[in-house]
Amino acid sequence: MRLAVLTSGGDAPGMNACIRAVVRAADVNDFEVLAIRRGYQGVFDDDIAPLTRGDIIDTVHMGGTTLGTARCADMYEDDGPARAVEVLSRHGVDALIAIGGDGTFRGCEAIERAGGPPTIGVPGTIDNDIAGTETTIGFDTAVNTALDAIDRLRDTARSHGIIHIVRVMGRHCGALALAAAIAGGTEAVVLPEDGHPAEGLVEQITDAINHGKQGIIVVVSEGARDSIDGIAADLTLQTGRSHRITVLGHIQRGGRPSAVDRLLGATMGVEAVRAARQGAHGVFIGMQAGSLVRVPYAVAAGTQPLDERLTGVRKLLS
Ligand code: F6P
Repeated sequence: MRLAVLTSGGDAPGMNACIRAVVRAADVNDFEVLAIRRGYQGVFDDDIAPLTRGDIIDTVHMGGTTLGTARCADMYEDDGPARAVEVLSRHGVDALIAIGGDGTFRGCEAIERAGGPPTIGVPGTIDNDIAGTETTIGFDTAVNTALDAIDRLRDTARSHGIIHIVRVMGRHCGALALAAAIAGGTEAVVLPEDGHPAEGLVEQITDAINHGKQGIIVVVSEGARDSIDGIAADLTLQTGRSHRITVLGHIQRGGRPSAVDRLLGATMGVEAVRAARQGAHGVFIGMQAGSLVRVPYAVAAGTQPLDERLTGVRKLLS
């Protein structure tokens, strides 16, 4: 059997652990592996080459993705999937393992619809925004990176007694912001799922100040409906405290993967190879109630609800 593997969309810490697991599991089964570089772009550019055990030596601890990644416009053109299938057939690909987010899975679906090989998705994104899986490769590391920044900001916020507003990634999903805010004990968090929360926010911050809080930290998810500048200006106007804004940006995408993300990458990679061997297709490997399961791509198109345990304590703790 000849497998191809690619990483697509935003990179996420732990992707390399997953690539390594795919190569090692394939090796045990005497399968060949082809690396497709820079996501689907590598299919269109025919940037495809054998990937062997020698290529994945000492990569498990590395952030980013050694295969490179891209957001590929060609895939969305009318003839994109058919062109991709032609290249994959020419390389004799029996199954494609694609590590990425919901856009990556849409690419997999399009390839299968166009008559291409079976595909198996693996959820890799710091956003944890894929419905059908409780977590994604890269999320845990990104939460810890945001948390490290929040802890540092806490020191200076307390010293100066001013309001720090921290923008956290996550696209349209507040999972990353919510987890970082609760773990960081921030005074408030503003999520895309909230609607327009500015009024309640001022009361929450005023309450914290009245309870003797010196430094105030507010996490704002990048998908929040209110602008971060508007939120900051309003807080300063209503509380009389000055503010600073920190945008964490792509720092959250890099860095050494946490143990959680390496283990997730490892187990999901092995499971993806097992699924390919068993002839599965049209599914991604998800985590549900602590177990790895195969989830149809259509499920990923739905909305990922926020973790109920965290939303349950949010009002109390952040
Ligand atoms: O999906 C991962 C992510 O980092 C999102 O949190 C963010 O909205 C987006 O990618 C940024 O994309 P880019 O790197 O293309 O600017």
